[in-house]
Amino acid sequence: MRPRSVDELMDLLHACRGAWDTPDRSGDPVDLHDHALQTAHLLRRLHPSDKELQVAGLVHDLGHLLRPGDDVGHADHAADAVRPLLGERVARLVQLHVPAKRYLAAVEPGRLLSPRSAVTLGAQGGEMSREEAAAFARDPLAEAAVTLRQADDAGKVIGLDAGVMEDWRPVLELVGVRRMAARR
Ligand SMILES: [Fe+2]
Ligand SMILES: [Fe+2]
Repeated sequence: MRPRSVDELMDLLHACRGAWDTPDRSGDPVDLHDHALQTAHLLRRLHPSDKELQVAGLVHDLGHLLRPGDDVGHADHAADAVRPLLGERVARLVQLHVPAKRYLAAVEPGRLLSPRSAVTLGAQGGEMSREEAAAFARDPLAEAAVTLRQADDAGKVIGLDAGVMEDWRPVLELVGVRRMAARR
């Protein structure tokens, strides 16, 4: 499903309440709703002016809602879903959140992942080879994608208050409107 309006996207984000990255709840300890809010909240603190990075953090795991159980494809599904509404940069940042994990595993081998992320890393291709990591680092979005990934990994804290979903509606509208203006 591709949301055609901010209202439809907000409906999806609200539907993340009580939805999980794994259908049997063996995965991360917070639901997709709280994980989205925590990730976006961290990115807003780190990069207050980069609204696209913040909303990429907000929507990065929608693939788990849209196609439950497809860990390997979840970043691509989410990117495809938000591209028409939020644009290419947001979609690519969303898509890169899995490659960024593989990149960080290669360049920071001792880095701690959540238990679920550690399990899925293997299925997602494992750590990048030296060549893959070098290619990733040349991507103009590499730095932002790594920042998103770090917020993603940190945004899994049970009980952390990261605000309310409705606060993001105007930010999503801003990113969508800017994108429409750029196309004119
Ligand atoms: Fe993810
Ligand atoms: Fe995530």
